[in-house]
Amino acid sequence: QLNLTGKHMLTLLDYSPEEMEHLLTVSSKLKKEQKQGDPNDSLKGKSLGMIFENASTRTRVSFEVGMTQLGGHSLFLSPRDLQIGRGEPIKDTANVLSRYVDAIMIRTNSHETVAEFAQHASVPVINALTDSFHPCQALADGLTILEHKGTLKGNKLVYIGDGNNVAHSLLALGAKTGMDVTIASPKGYEVDQDIFKRASAAAKETGAMLQLSNDPLEAAKGADILYTDVWASMGFEKEQLNREKAFAGYQINEDLAKHAKADYLFLHCLPAHRGEEVGASIIDGPHSVVYDQAENRLHVQKAILSEVISHNK
Ligand code: CP
Ligand code: NVA
Repeated sequence: QLNLTGKHMLTLLDYSPEEMEHLLTVSSKLKKEQKQGDPNDSLKGKSLGMIFENASTRTRVSFEVGMTQLGGHSLFLSPRDLQIGRGEPIKDTANVLSRYVDAIMIRTNSHETVAEFAQHASVPVINALTDSFHPCQALADGLTILEHKGTLKGNKLVYIGDGNNVAHSLLALGAKTGMDVTIASPKGYEVDQDIFKRASAAAKETGAMLQLSNDPLEAAKGADILYTDVWASMGFEKEQLNREKAFAGYQINEDLAKHAKADYLFLHCLPAHRGEEVGASIIDGPHSVVYDQAENRLHVQKAILSEVISHNK
C-alpha cells in the first residue's frame, strides 16, 4: 500500500513510477465518482493555502473547486496582500502558514522559491508552476492520454516549441510512465540539460525513449500525440517579437500534423495563441482534446490533495 501523506509535489521526478500510476488511478476514481454524483468529503475541515505570484485561470479555479468538492476550504493568497510581498522571509511564511493550513500550493517564477518553501514547511507543498516545472499539468496530460489512448507506454508524444517548464514536466511524465517523448525546439530555446539528464536517468527504469531535436517536421513523424505551449512564457513577455522570429516553422498546423499518425491527439496546456504556436484548425479541430485536458486538472489535483494531505483514509 502506497502512502504519500506529507509528500511534497515539486516535480514528477520525485515520484516513483508506482506512485505516478497510483495518482492516475485515484484521479480516474475521483473523476468517476464526481460524474456519478457520489459525494467525497475526505478533506472536510482541511484548508489549502494558494499563493499565486502570477496569473492563472485553470490552476486557481481547479484547485479551489477541487478543495470544495472534497469538503475542504481554500484561501487565495496574493503576494500583494501577504507580508511576503513586503519582504517577510520565505522561511517564516512557510513555518507560520504550516501552523494554519494542511497544504500549500504555490505558483512562482523561480523554482528555488518553491524548493525553499518546501524545506521550511511542515505540510505538503505543491508546485503550481515554476520556471522549471508544471507537475500538476503533466499529470493531467497523462490522465487525458490514458483516457483517449488506453495506455501511456507505447505512445510517442512530440512536443514542438519552447523548452520550458511544460516541456520539462512532459519529459518527467514520459520517464516515469514509459511513454516516449521528443522535444523539438529552435536552437537557443532547448530544454535545460540538467533536467534532461535527470529525466533520462529516470527513463532507464521504465524504458521510455526521451529525445531532443531541432527539426520539428522530422520529430513529428509517427507521433501519437502532438503538444505545444506558448512561445513566450510568463516572465518572458518582452521577448515576444524575437521569439516569434525564432519559432517560425514551429507552429503545429495542418502541414506539420501530416507527419503525425492519422489518429494523433492534439494537446495544449492553455492558454493558447491561435496563429502562433498552433493553427486554429488544429486546436479547434477533431484531434484536439484540450478541454478534456483542462478538465483533468481538477481531477488530478483532487487526487494529489487527497493523497498528500493528512486525514483518516
Ligand atoms: N495550464 C495552466 O496552468 O493554466 P493557468 O495558467 O490558467 O492556470
Ligand atoms: N509555459 C507557460 C505555461 C502556462 C500555463 C508559462 O510558464 O507561462
